[in-house]
This record gives sequence, C-alpha cells and structure tokens, in this order.
Amino acid sequence: MTIPFFPSIKSICCIGAGYVGGPTMAVIADRCPHIEVTVVDLNEARIAAWNDSDLNQLPVYEPGLDAVISRARGRNLYFSTSVQKSIAAADMVFISVNTPTKTKGIGAGQASDLRWVEACARQVAQSAKGHTFVVEKSTLPVRTAATIKSILDAPQKHCDGAGTSPTFSVLSNPEFLAEGTAIKDLENPDRVLIGGEDAESIEALADVYSNWVPPNKILRTNVWSSELSKLTANAFLAQRISSINSVAALCEATGADVREVALAIGADSRLGPKFLNAGPGFGGSCFQKDILNLVYLCHHFGLPEVASYWEQVVKLNDWQKNRISRLLVHKLYGTVTGKKIAIFGFAFKADTNDTRESPSIRIALNLIEEGAKLAIHDPKADVQQISLELQTPRQETTAGFGPEGSWDYVDDVVDAVKGADAVLILTEWDQYRTLDWCHIATLMRAPAWVFDTRSVADSLKVKEAGLNLWRLGEGED
Ligand code: NAD
Ligand code: UGA
Repeated sequence: MTIPFFPSIKSICCIGAGYVGGPTMAVIADRCPHIEVTVVDLNEARIAAWNDSDLNQLPVYEPGLDAVISRARGRNLYFSTSVQKSIAAADMVFISVNTPTKTKGIGAGQASDLRWVEACARQVAQSAKGHTFVVEKSTLPVRTAATIKSILDAPQKHCDGAGTSPTFSVLSNPEFLAEGTAIKDLENPDRVLIGGEDAESIEALADVYSNWVPPNKILRTNVWSSELSKLTANAFLAQRISSINSVAALCEATGADVREVALAIGADSRLGPKFLNAGPGFGGSCFQKDILNLVYLCHHFGLPEVASYWEQVVKLNDWQKNRISRLLVHKLYGTVTGKKIAIFGFAFKADTNDTRESPSIRIALNLIEEGAKLAIHDPKADVQQISLELQTPRQETTAGFGPEGSWDYVDDVVDAVKGADAVLILTEWDQYRTLDWCHIATLMRAPAWVFDTRSVADSLKVKEAGLNLWRLGEGED
C-alpha cells in the first residue's frame, strides 16, 4: 500500500469559540505544541472571557478545562476576534459555529439553520491563502460539505499574494464530546471520525489527532457517512433515553422499579449499562435539534415512515417533561397556585453551566403557568441565563416568596426550601446526594414532598425525615 503524501499542519484557525470550539482547540493545542491554534469568534465578550486571566471567568465550565487552558494559552493557543487574519494564516480551518433549528421559513422547527456555516465558508473563501483544509466540526445535515465546497470553489475577486487562487479540501470531523466530560472525552475519545474525499486530506487531519489518539481509534470514511454518523449517533443516544423514560412510566404504573429494570437490561453485553438513567427528559443544545434535522432529511429524501419513527423520540421527551409537572400538581392536591416549590438544578445535566433545552425550562414554565412561586437553585447555571430561558425576569425576594406564577434564584438550598411545599430535583448535581433532609424537613411546610427525577436523594433519609417522596420510575406498592 502506498502511503499518500500529506502536508504537515502548522497552523490551525477555528471559527467559533463556543462549547465545542473552545475546549476542542484547547486540547489540540495542549497535545500539539508544534501547531499554532487560534480560535476566533465575532462575539467580543466571549473572546474576552476566554482571554481572562481569572480562569473562573472562562465562558464554558468544564472540569479540567482551566488546567488545559493555563498550559496552552499564550504558548500556542490564542483567542481572537481577527477572523480574516487568522484564516489567512491557517493551513487548516475548523468550522465550529452554531447550527440551531430554523425558527421560520422552509423547514421551520426541523431543518438546521445553516446561515452561520455559510457565512464561515464565505469568510474562508475570501481570506484563505494557498491550499487550505476546511474541516466541518459543527454538526451538519448530510451533504453540507458539497454546499461548502461550491462556495469555496466559486471564483473570488481577489487572489493570494503569489497571484494564485487559493484551493481547498473539505473534511467532515464531527465532535462527539459530551458536556461535563468534554476534556476527558477529547483527551481519550472513543473514536475520532474523519470523512473526506481524498486520502491526502484525511491523513493531514489524522496526523494532528495521532499526536495523542491511538491509530485504531481514528476512523476514516467518506464525507457523507461521516456527516450522517454524527446525526444518527445522537439519535441513537436520545432514543435510548426516551426508551428508558417510557419504561419508567410503565414501572410507576405497575410497581416495578426502573433502576432495577435498567440494571437487568444493561447487564446484557449486547446492550450495555450506559445511557439507561431515567430522568426528566433529555436536554442540551443538540439531541432535539439533531433528531429534528434527521426527521427533516428523511422527509426530504422521501422516507416519511423513517421520519415519524425518529420524531417519536422527541415527542416522548416532550411528554415526559409535561408529565412530571402534571404529576407534581396532582400530588399537591391539584393546585400549586401560591405554593412555593424549590427547584434543585437548572442545568441540563450535572457538571455544566449549560441550560440550553434543559428539561427544567419546560417544567418550570408549566409550574409558573399553574401559579407556583419557584425558588431555583443551581450550583453553576447563571441567573441571567435562567432569565433568558424562562423569558421573564426573576422576582427578587428575601424569603423566596414572590407573587403567584413567579420565580426567584437562590444561592443556598436552605433558602430555597424555607416554607416550600415541595422540592423538585431536576439535575443530578453531587451536592443533592448528601443533603441534610432532617434539617430541610423542619424548614418546609407540612405535608411536604420531595420529587426526585434523577434518583439522587437518599430515599431512606428523606422518608425518615417525614417527607413524602416520589421517585421517577418507582412504582407504589
Ligand atoms: P455555541 O453557540 O456555543 O458556539 C458557536 C460560536 O460560533 C458562538 O460563539 C458564535 O458567536 C460563533 N459564530 C457564529 N458564526 C460565526 C462567524 N461567522 N464567525 C465567527 N464566529 C461565529 O455552539 P456549540 O455548542 O459550540 O456548538 C457548535 C457546533 O458543534 C454545533 O453544530 C453543535 O451541534 C455541535 N456540537 C455541540 C456539542 C456540545 O456539546 N455543545 C457537542 C458536539 C457537537
Ligand atoms: C450529547 C452526546 O452524548 C455527545 O456524544 C454529543 O457530542 C453531544 O450530545 C452533541 O452532539 O451535542 P450532551 O448533550 O453534552 O452530549 O450530554 P449527554 O450526556 O449526552 O446528556 C444529554 C441529556 O440526556 C442530558 O439532559 C442528560 O441528563 C440526559 N441523559 C443522559 C439521561 O436522561 N439519561 C442518561 O442515561 C443519559
């Protein structure tokens, strides 16, 4: 077999300094000190935060990220708003911008909004010099690489310094990191996937990863397989959560316990134990948007049955969120109007400050609609972000007693529970595993409830404290 010639990458530019671009490039820079890595973004405040000398001010909270940043930043890792200059200096440009669901026009509610990706392709076409590898890092609909390539290959008004037009190779290299474990996932990935049209380009990118990723974990495919693998990997993961959440509801109805059922299912080596935790529904910026995008693509390619199969995963997820708020109202004698409810956890999962598509949003909105007064606690989620998600300003109160149908943010769980009728645990933060339920019970209004959607509370201690406990997926005898 002949080994193709591929150029060694010396300079990388990543467009998009978000949850993916920032941590991913930080790890590449950390593991490849011989490569200059510049992360660019139009958002000046975000870039300033990435450059902040106080590592607590980084725009993304991820365990271990501060250590990686402190090793690489200023050495061979830079954050900048000089988009054009950084593209011009790069051998390889990663596109890592947002690809949300379209909110209007053709495909609204399902298709990906690719305006930011298209803008990047145009910026690269304008500013690149020589031969540039353009890498799709964002999650994209299958065949987007063809769109990017056609923009890059369109004749530009300018030429580079040598008087020759720049040339491009487009690669797909989707990111599989999960928030909260991003650094671990990047440093020790299950696989790195590279889709390309020619072996030389694929090897140029594989060479970067081979600085720390074992060869057998670097998968090479055609571009379309790579793009589609990312969408479908997320769909499979989300499907597993909707499956176990559907089983949880059946457990509650039949007296079975979803934790025991999950243990039994996961012991089958063909299925495995991961991603079988029942909960309030999946959140995060990607699962829903990626499945909806898949549904849109299936319709586009004339496969309505396949589309409705995957759409059901999202429908079940919506149902789960609504079912939890309905159940809480039902247990509190059919009304929560004027009642204080402590919400423990607003981030979509533990160990992240990200609240995008968090199940807490729908559940909180439902309870506010019912007239509840919410006292929201989260160790990392930012109060302004919560305010944006709930689309209403917080009602600041000393004891957490706002008007009916309002919410307040509290730093301390003790303040959250004072006078509350219920605690609703929505995120599996470690600190909720070791709460002093005896003390909490003395502060709440009796008869008080704990609704645990994540199975983190010590159920024995909750019951011993005289509190009523409802655990998701646990049938009543
Ligand atoms: P994000 O919204 O956190 O960051 C995107 C950044 O791109 C923003 O800061 C925005 O200002 C910037 N941007 C947009 N257009 C730009 C332009 N033309 N020039 C310069 N900057 C521009 O998004 P994210 O969570 O990092 O996700 C990025 C992509 O990665 C998405 O396609 C997402 O589906 C995918 N992804 C996300 C995750 C995750 O855990 N968040 C994991 C895997 C894949
Ligand atoms: C997910 C995938 O796990 C990543 O591989 C992918 O790269 C990423 O989406 C993406 O494309 O954005 P992420 O959303 O960060 O990562 O976090 P997950 O750990 O997958 O959790 C997603 C949601 O599912 C969370 O709300 C979580 O609480 C929920 N979940 C997860 C459960 O309810 N039960 C489980 O067993 C696992």
